[in-house]
Amino acid sequence: MGSTSLKIAEIRSQFFMELEKVCYAKDVEALKIRYLGKKSPLRGLMQELKECKEEERPQFGKMINDLKEEIFHHLDHVLQRLLFSEENSKVSQEKIDITLPGRKRFLGHMHPVTLMLKKATDILIHMGFSVQLGPDVDSDYYNFEALNFPFDHPAREMQDTFYLNTETLLRTHTSNVQVRTMEKYKPPIRVIAPGRCFRNETISSRSHILFHQLEGFYIDKEVSFADLFATMEEFWSRLFEKKVKTRFRPSYFPFVEPGLEVDVHCTSCNGGGCKLCKYSGWLEVCGAGMIHPEVLQAGGIDPEIYSGYAWGMGIERQIMLLYGIDDIRKFTENDIRLLSQFY
Ligand code: PHE
Repeated sequence: MGSTSLKIAEIRSQFFMELEKVCYAKDVEALKIRYLGKKSPLRGLMQELKECKEEERPQFGKMINDLKEEIFHHLDHVLQRLLFSEENSKVSQEKIDITLPGRKRFLGHMHPVTLMLKKATDILIHMGFSVQLGPDVDSDYYNFEALNFPFDHPAREMQDTFYLNTETLLRTHTSNVQVRTMEKYKPPIRVIAPGRCFRNETISSRSHILFHQLEGFYIDKEVSFADLFATMEEFWSRLFEKKVKTRFRPSYFPFVEPGLEVDVHCTSCNGGGCKLCKYSGWLEVCGAGMIHPEVLQAGGIDPEIYSGYAWGMGIERQIMLLYGIDDIRKFTENDIRLLSQFY
């Protein structure tokens, strides 16, 4: 009996000595295994109990259990204390580095073509036009025939066409919206039609198979050349954000009569002559003219009563002129270094 209680006292003092040396939470776990685990001296004592006198057993059993509980309690206490102080010192060592610069956010940009279409459309809406969209895939009728391009007319060769079959094609210009609109509405009609166009051209710095146009037309009683001139001056001045002079040269498109080419005073040299305008002082900006009586008729509008003007401009070309971009292919390459300059 005496030797057993001595052993218990020894284990106890041994435990407290070791516990005093513990510095880290992880060591508490090791100590726990050593004193409460399967191979602990207390377990050994439990085995020895079987050999001692029966009447002494409950007393020893209790002593061993009390010590186990005491050990458990102290281990837990020390563990909580160490965990707390370890957490505290970790937090006090962590510093927030406020010298790190903020992250730059990269916002998306609108494509320059979208921006130019939007700019032109906004100006023209303010000038009283409303928007009509035509289909990219259209019939030969609306793209050519109704616009006074008969089937075997050589003028068709002005626009190399992607045919899907003999009747269907990818529109070569936004003029396909003209007769469609006339069929739908009665004059006065004041419409613009922005959109994509396609031509079977060899791709180069100056021409592409995919490009954008904006068409505009006005049909009413007594619409004259003077209205077209005034609209052109006003529109191009607003687009180039300064008063620009316009010039009109005779040209040919089957759906207008007379047909014109519209020039504006070079935006870069103001007419003095520079590389951009090839030293002519003028930039060619769009085709235009008075809507051909045959076209009005195809749209169900009486040319004896009504007249109208129309113009059509290439969007990529305007951007190239305005920003000095020398290659139309850049609009489809989508190089972020170019695109990010437009917003
Ligand atoms: N559709 C013509 C073209 O693509 C431009 C144009 C439109 C000319 C309207 C006259 C009137 O070249």
